[in-house]
Amino acid sequence: MIEACLFDLDGVVVDTAKYHFIAWKALAEELGFEFTLEDNERLKGVSRMQSLDILLEIGGLQFSEPEKLAMAEKKNTLYVCYIEKMTPEETLPGVEKFLQELRNAGIGIALGSASKNAPMILERIQLSGMFDAIVDGNSISEAKPNPEVFLKGAEKLGVLPENCVVFEDAIAGIEAAQNANMYSVGIGDQETLGFADLVIPGFEGFTVEKLKACLPFPQK
Ligand code: BG6
Ligand code: MG
Repeated sequence: MIEACLFDLDGVVVDTAKYHFIAWKALAEELGFEFTLEDNERLKGVSRMQSLDILLEIGGLQFSEPEKLAMAEKKNTLYVCYIEKMTPEETLPGVEKFLQELRNAGIGIALGSASKNAPMILERIQLSGMFDAIVDGNSISEAKPNPEVFLKGAEKLGVLPENCVVFEDAIAGIEAAQNANMYSVGIGDQETLGFADLVIPGFEGFTVEKLKACLPFPQK
């Protein structure tokens, strides 16, 4: 029986990839190389420091750990300039309605995000109150595809992993859900996320009823 839904944040609830892109691109330009939108795709679902490692690999550059920490801090300062101006209108279509439907159905809701900025983003889009539990980059030690972020979410909600559904837009996130033994729903295209249990383009028109109809486990 479905007891809880766990949501990734970036790319599922909001589109922050465009702000990450602006900030990483600025850093790359400062370091003297080009960073493209295609490169940015590789950073989805990846932690801040891992993202920096990928960026530096693209630029063919190497730095010490303290230098890298300073660069990540600089990138984040610029990123925060953008996300602190976010408004509820930036919540992706259909998300709020779906969350409300889950609440009405008595299904637990948790956030499972790699971002350390998750609390600020949820506050800006005024959705903090919708989540019964929040697990983000500040409270995990292992990055997706490690299942830690989702297992902690289930634990906080007091539900078994096998009764959870995860919504994710990144390959590593779907893998994390599968590693946690949870039902995975990919948000995006079939070509990229086809290995998820279910793939939907977004939440517009998606309902709890439709979700339940796809689930392999028995429903009330
Ligand atoms: C993930 C994003 O949700 O959070 C990644 O998909 C990002 O692109 C990661 O790098 C970490 O985010 P932050 O806000 O802690 O730098
Ligand atoms: Mg994501």
